[in-house]
Amino acid sequence: MRGQLRDDILREIRSRNDIVEVISEYVLLKQTGKNYKALCPFHTERTPSFVVSPERQLFHCFGCGASGDVFAFIMKLENMSFPEAARLLAERAGIDLPGDGASGPRREGDIKALILEANEAAADYFNWALLQTRQGATALDYLRGRGIDEDDIVRFKLGYAPPGWDSLYKALTRKGLSPEILEAAGLIIKRKESRGFYDRFRNRVMFTIFDLHGRVVGFGGRVLDDSQPKYLNSPETAVFSKGSSLYGISVARDEIRASGRAVIVEGYTDVIAAHRAGVRTAVASLGTALTQNQARLLARYAKEVVLAYDADFAGEAATIRGMDLLSAAGLQVKVAVFPGGKDPDEVIRSEGRDAFVSMLDGARPLVEYKLDLALKDIDLSTLQGRVAAAARAAAVVAGIQNAVERLEYSRVMAARLNVPEEAFIEEVRKLGRTGPAPRVPSKDKFGQNRNTTGNTHVEGVSHLRQGVPAKVIKAERGLLRLMLEEPDVYIAVRRELGEVVFSCDEHRTIAAAIMDEARNSERGGVTGSVDAASVISRLADDTLRAVATGAFIEDIPVSPEGRKEILSDYIKVLKEHLMRERIRRMEGELKALEASGDTAKFQELLVEWQELRSKLDREFASFGGFM
Ligand code: UTP
Ligand code: MN
Repeated sequence: MRGQLRDDILREIRSRNDIVEVISEYVLLKQTGKNYKALCPFHTERTPSFVVSPERQLFHCFGCGASGDVFAFIMKLENMSFPEAARLLAERAGIDLPGDGASGPRREGDIKALILEANEAAADYFNWALLQTRQGATALDYLRGRGIDEDDIVRFKLGYAPPGWDSLYKALTRKGLSPEILEAAGLIIKRKESRGFYDRFRNRVMFTIFDLHGRVVGFGGRVLDDSQPKYLNSPETAVFSKGSSLYGISVARDEIRASGRAVIVEGYTDVIAAHRAGVRTAVASLGTALTQNQARLLARYAKEVVLAYDADFAGEAATIRGMDLLSAAGLQVKVAVFPGGKDPDEVIRSEGRDAFVSMLDGARPLVEYKLDLALKDIDLSTLQGRVAAAARAAAVVAGIQNAVERLEYSRVMAARLNVPEEAFIEEVRKLGRTGPAPRVPSKDKFGQNRNTTGNTHVEGVSHLRQGVPAKVIKAERGLLRLMLEEPDVYIAVRRELGEVVFSCDEHRTIAAAIMDEARNSERGGVTGSVDAASVISRLADDTLRAVATGAFIEDIPVSPEGRKEILSDYIKVLKEHLMRERIRRMEGELKALEASGDTAKFQELLVEWQELRSKLDREFASFGGFM
């Protein structure tokens, strides 16, 4: 796959897409020393173990082992093939790729690009039909009547699908788009009885659904009257999945990242109304309960989410499961429920933006909302009622992750329900931690097996650890890092230690790759440090690449003196280890010789063994005995 794009183009794409800039479009990065840290977007965690190195242009998660360069990041996160990721990054950097021209030959992998192109053309067409046609005027009146203005139409690229059976079909095929692609985009439907196609969306106000990057992935179309179905959405396509999309995300993204907060509403019109009211962090989940993928998407940008729902929707079991998913993704979840069955759009129009904003400010923590819900129809004046209420409340409180918080809420609820505190706490304990929701499914949209226990942890690679002390592994990793800066240190180390330097096979292979890359780049006239990403691309399998990235990404001292000092520390550690290993091997041989009765050889080896032992004591006594 890589072969289809030339190396020099790949190098240019990589050099024009700074990994820190690219990743920070998806994840909240915090600078720590030379590197950046974040909560890993590839697994659920509460303390950051995801590291990005601007110097190495690599990322690595010490929790789940995910790692690589900027291409690898996009492939993993966007669930893309290598050519797709390269294309996205090329576009981002304004680089033209060969084969981009409309007349050029198309590859199979480009189906997504073609669908996106068709969607884009459809959005333009709908927008034109809304603003420039006579039939569109009715739709425009409808939107105006709902308080939607010109700015909203532009910002959200609203449109109108004319009433004919094939208006869009004709307009887009005339532009050269193929019916097959329009069908794959969900824009037209094949006739069952006769030949030909008809438009999916007819006589509807069109809401364009963008992805994170502002690409048109789908549509929602609303009727202009009370007929059913009220909304018609694009079907699942190669570029659109309802459960992974959030309406408004492309418009809200920067503001969500800047404020660390997102407001989640239920529908298209709520998002538009909220933005018009100045709440520019509003997104919607397209009418369904929130999914794991949407929760993850939000957790990349926000710390806190406020759910702004009407009471009915907010109270549904599926909605609450969605809320639990948000909190399991590490977000602080608050709930604002609107009275009188109103949705945000209606609240804003009938009560004004200030009322809306103050309702958002008054949003309550998820637990409190759940407690209210649990106690809703219970009569607390009777003992029976209080016992029933305590049981329900205990179930909610048992779902709180934080132990201190759990205890606090136990106290508060016991007092509120007028039941003995110890009994309530006991009840909570019995229920154990039941929620929130399963933390992570075993597979997700990134197509990767994930697990909560972090089995893929690089440190856990079995053969890497076997029998080799942690201190030695650390020194070997450090040495690899130094070799990147200055490949020649390897030669010095070899002189000191002999042929075998690394006890871990993986480390030995990585060292060889560094030396290969150093030789290779010298031929090209480059001296000095070696490019980490190039070394990684030389490695054959995922484990090796993950081990290498983990080793490369840690900080090293900047000054040459500092480096010399840690190098001599590493050498000491490795030397001691190698010596101990030799002694151990000798002891095995000695045992064998003793058994075989070869006293001459035994004596000879014993002397050697004693010498080595005392050498070890002499050189490493100050290092505190056995490792
Ligand atoms: P609502 O019925 O609350 O609609 O559905 P709304 O957003 O308030 O729309 P207006 O104000 O009546 O115009 C909420 C969301 O559920 C999805 C849509 O995403 C909608 O915005 N939905 C609803 C559908 O996908 N299909 C439907 O038939 C209805
Ligand atoms: Mn509404």
